[in-house]
Amino acid sequence: MSDFLWWRDGVIYQIYPRSFMDSNHDGIGDIPGIIQKLDYLKDLGIDAIWLSPVYPSPDNDFGYDISNYCDIDQKFGGIEAFDIFLEESHQRSIRVVMDLVLNHTSDQHEWFQQSKSSRNNPYRDWYIWKEARDGGKVPNNWQSRFGGSGWEWDSTTEAYFFHMFSKKQPDLNWRNPKVFNEILDIIKFWLDKGVDGFRLDVFNAYYKDENFQNNPHQIGLAKFDQQKHIHDLDQPEMFDFLKAFRQLLDSYPERYAVGETFMGDYHTAATYTGDQGLHAAFEFDFLNNHYKPSSFYKTIQQWENVLDQKGWPNYVLNNHDVIRSASRYTKSEDDDRLKVLATLMLTLRGTPFLYYGEEIGMRDIPIERKSDVLDPVGRQFWPFYKGRDGCRSPMQWNPEQNAGFSDATPWLPVHNNHHWRNVHSQSGDPDSLLNYYKKMLHIRKSTPVLQKGMYLPITYDPQKILAFVRQTSEQTALIALNFSKRNVGLVLSSQLLTGDWKLLISNKRDTFPVIRDRKILLEGNEALVILQG
Ligand code: GLC
Ligand code: CA
Repeated sequence: MSDFLWWRDGVIYQIYPRSFMDSNHDGIGDIPGIIQKLDYLKDLGIDAIWLSPVYPSPDNDFGYDISNYCDIDQKFGGIEAFDIFLEESHQRSIRVVMDLVLNHTSDQHEWFQQSKSSRNNPYRDWYIWKEARDGGKVPNNWQSRFGGSGWEWDSTTEAYFFHMFSKKQPDLNWRNPKVFNEILDIIKFWLDKGVDGFRLDVFNAYYKDENFQNNPHQIGLAKFDQQKHIHDLDQPEMFDFLKAFRQLLDSYPERYAVGETFMGDYHTAATYTGDQGLHAAFEFDFLNNHYKPSSFYKTIQQWENVLDQKGWPNYVLNNHDVIRSASRYTKSEDDDRLKVLATLMLTLRGTPFLYYGEEIGMRDIPIERKSDVLDPVGRQFWPFYKGRDGCRSPMQWNPEQNAGFSDATPWLPVHNNHHWRNVHSQSGDPDSLLNYYKKMLHIRKSTPVLQKGMYLPITYDPQKILAFVRQTSEQTALIALNFSKRNVGLVLSSQLLTGDWKLLISNKRDTFPVIRDRKILLEGNEALVILQG
């Protein structure tokens, strides 16, 4: 019997629903659109979909401001479409992970509308309200990640409410047991529906210091970064919630949760991971790494060490908040480096998270004018930061109008390169990035050592090579990645070289490489995986 565990051994694919596929001609992607593409995803070889939020939302932060947790927005097809989607996904053995945004709601949520209506309203304590200090000043120095003070004055009840993100995203008061219980009920609602897991948005911000102490200062660029967030993030009360949450999850078979560790490094992420907490918390170092073996080596090593074989790692090169890896790591339209990174992602010990379009090397769309910007963060910080629209452009399905995403004007522009960079064209090209991803995903799926094997670093050279081994008692895989454009020799220990090896994949050759003087000669930008056993 196979002991395949989907979230540990499989690959999770993030869909930004507004941008994947539009089925009803309004320029906005939707759930029936995703259903049309499930066979594509099955064929690609992923095991689960993480859906960015699809709940009703006024879209101030495009779904990350929820106005009803137990429904699906009509623009995405409503709950009926979702039920079909869940069923169709499961038929294809694709699991579904929902995005839960529980730190804050939309200001349009009924709870907040009630809460702000009067000081005696039963929902008053569902949000974080404070009196003005010294004749009108904000209660303390806490900031909003989206710019300015975190406190917003509400004239109806003459008090401040707190918002870690935009003022249209008021933070819930997690210290209120009613909020805590309501949230567990919402989670139960989705579990009963049959969803397989959750991605928790900024979960480590749920609790704030009960005495509202000021955060101490530190050196940083943006105001938000000029504080040590010791009083508005990572409060110890979080663990009580995680425990209750995990118990609920564990009362259903094979459910999973991954948390977005906001502002946290791998240490913070690791503290929330384990049997009494989350299955996984994101480690985001890969998003900031330079294209250098030393950067990646360091990240992997730190993550492996801190989890110490107990927790299960995860790796992310892309998501809806950052410049796409293809734009970060390449200036041109060349995909060589992306194949090296795909090999890294899909051979490491840990769950790989892919982001829609990563498999065809989608680049960010250029953002030229402030008036074009839709992301509230881009509008706030323009021109220093142009926001996140760039990485959220419509999926490029074919060379036709709007890249086959929609026959209406898409909500964000389609990249000009869609005429030749698209799923259809790459499917027909055996050397394309898409076919490389497919092969790599297939290899990962059919090679147990790449799922479960131990991770053992072999060598890295700061600029050129990163090589490591994955090992079980039955199999050994050697992964050698050449980050440079030049040919480089990888010297291997004689111990490693004994026995029979076969080629699993290389982006530069079809036959096993020649080994001379214990050296494998790697071509420029070569990614090589060989297997023993
Ligand atoms: C998370 C999301 C981001 C959103 C923010 C506020 O960081 O990934 O897209 O804007 O939370 O919900
Ligand atoms: Ca639509």
